Amino acid sequence: MPQCEIIAIANQKGGVGKTTTTLSFGVALAKEGKKVLLIDADPQGDLTTCMGYYEPDDIPVTLGTLMEYSMLDKTLDNKDYILHHKENVDLIPSNLDLSSMEMSLVNAMSREYTMKNCLQELRKDYDYILIDCMPSLGMITINALASADKVIIPVEAQFLPAKGMSQLLRTVNKVRKQINPNLKVEGVLITFVDKRTNLSKATYQQLQENYGSMVKIFDTQIPRTTKMAESTASGKSIFNYDKSGKVSEAYSLFTKEVLENEQERNKNAIAKVR
Ligand SMILES: Nc1ncnc2c1ncn2[C@@H]1O[C@H](COP(=O)(O)OP(=O)(O)O)[C@@H](O)[C@H]1O
Ligand SMILES: [Mg+2]
Repeated sequence: MPQCEIIAIANQKGGVGKTTTTLSFGVALAKEGKKVLLIDADPQGDLTTCMGYYEPDDIPVTLGTLMEYSMLDKTLDNKDYILHHKENVDLIPSNLDLSSMEMSLVNAMSREYTMKNCLQELRKDYDYILIDCMPSLGMITINALASADKVIIPVEAQFLPAKGMSQLLRTVNKVRKQINPNLKVEGVLITFVDKRTNLSKATYQQLQENYGSMVKIFDTQIPRTTKMAESTASGKSIFNYDKSGKVSEAYSLFTKEVLENEQERNKNAIAKVR
């Protein structure tokens, strides 16, 4: 099996499509035959809920539990806590326990590496582990970035999209320097695109001007549709809820774009070695 890639989906702004992207990208990867684990790293438990687990606070073992065990140097003797979704993706859920966990992390040894330690053991079981980050740059998100090989940044098509990007990129740089030298920004994904307006063009240009030299902006953009908003409440991914709709098509294309970029890089790396 090829090496597992851990990808964090991050942006400290809420409502930009992180959770939606995590589920849609995850299911699209599974459709490409990949083994995929999704991690809900938001105490709101939105990913958990939108995968059909409507009472996250009733789930006994969550990411918070795993991180707490890891801090106490305890291990669980099975992986029953991993939930299996019908659409061929697995989930480590979250609920409010993750908030209290975040507070206890402050005094923990290797506090930045707690999530990484939890995921280490799972890497061998999956091709991709996607982490849905919470809307902050606190300790949980730092833990996600410390665990990740790559980060994908969803950005909503709007005026001043770049607001907040500098802070996020500074955090990524800091994590790279101090904690995780392997961390790469895979790219910026423009979401909530309404083709009737020029906003997506303006967003693309502004991001390109300000950050184009540092990060790639994906060619694929995700349209805004009411179907997408509805699918969130249905416990299904958009591929199940609106199979041949525009958003399904966009997330399939986006997934192909990520896989092709990866293949391209691998080819270049091999060519270099030769
Ligand atoms: N492409 C889209 N079109 C319409 N609504 C969307 C789209 N993507 C996400 N949404 C809705 O917008 C809200 C915020 O998206 P979400 O993925 O939860 O953002 P975040 O995780 O960044 O807070 C959700 O209610 C979701 O259903
Ligand atoms: Mg979210």
